[in-house]
Amino acid sequence: MVLEYRSPDWDRYVMNYREPFKQIEPLEQEIRVVDEALAALKHAGILPHTDYDREKFLAHRKEVAEKFEIPWTAITPRMHRLIYAINAILQPKVMVAAGIFCGFTFICNAGAAVGQGKCYDAKRLVGIEIKPEEAARAERNVRSLTDDPTVEIIAADAVEVLANFDDTIDLLYLDADGAGKNGKGVYLDILLAAWDKLRSGSVILAHNSVNLAHQLKHYLEFVRNPQNCRASVNVVIDGEGLEVSMK
Ligand SMILES: C[S@@+](CC[C@H](N)C(=O)[O-])C[C@H]1O[C@@H](n2cnc3c(N)ncnc32)[C@H](O)[C@@H]1O
Repeated sequence: MVLEYRSPDWDRYVMNYREPFKQIEPLEQEIRVVDEALAALKHAGILPHTDYDREKFLAHRKEVAEKFEIPWTAITPRMHRLIYAINAILQPKVMVAAGIFCGFTFICNAGAAVGQGKCYDAKRLVGIEIKPEEAARAERNVRSLTDDPTVEIIAADAVEVLANFDDTIDLLYLDADGAGKNGKGVYLDILLAAWDKLRSGSVILAHNSVNLAHQLKHYLEFVRNPQNCRASVNVVIDGEGLEVSMK
C-alpha cells in the first residue's frame, strides 16, 4: 500500500509556470492544505511536529519574489510553502538540493536557514546544477538575498558530487531531470550516490511524484520499500506532487 496525502482539489489547483507568485487561492486555503499534508507526514513518523512560523514564510516568499530572476517554475505556492515548512521543522544541518535550475527550488529549502525566512542556523546548504549558465544564475539569485558562507552553489553533475560528498546529509532534495538522458530516472542514481552519506532519519524530498511517476518508477519502488526507507509518503497537493521519504 502506498502511503499518500491527497488534497481533494489537487487536480483543479493549477498555476501559470511563468507567474510563480500569483495568488491562485485564498491564503487560508493554501495554509490549510499544507497543514493537512504536514499532519500526514507527522502521522507517518517523518516530522516530529507541524509548527512553523507562517509570518517568516511570507517574508521569505516576498523577498524571493522581489529579488529572484525565475524564467519559469512548476513549484506551486502550496509546494513552496510545504518545502519551506519541512525544512523549518526538521532544521537540517546539512541540506543538499540536486538539479536546482535557477535556484528557486534551492531557496524553497534553504530559505528556512537564510534571508528573511531564517529560523535556524545550518552548517552547509548545497545546491547542485549541471548546466553552468543556470548554476551561475542560481548563484546570482541566491547572493542577491544572502552572503551566508554556509551556502554553496556547485556547477556539476549531482551524481559525481554526491559520490564524493564528505559530510552527513540531513535532508536531500531531488529535482534533476537527467539533462535530456533518462529524465527524472536520474533521481535513483543521485540517491544511490548519496545513500551512505544519509543517516538513519535523514529525509529525502522528490519533486514530480505525480506527473512524472512513470519516469520515477524505479526511484519510487526503492523509497517505498520498507527495507530501504522507514516511511515514504506521496504528498499530492498539486499536479506535480512530492514524495517525502525517511531513511
Ligand atoms: C528543469 S529543473 C527542475 C525544475 C523544477 N521542478 C521547477 O519546477 O522549478 C531540473 C534541473 O536539473 C538539472 N540537472 C539535470 N541533470 C542533473 C544532474 N545530473 N546533476 C545536477 N543537475 C542536473 C537540469 O539542468 C535542470 O536545470
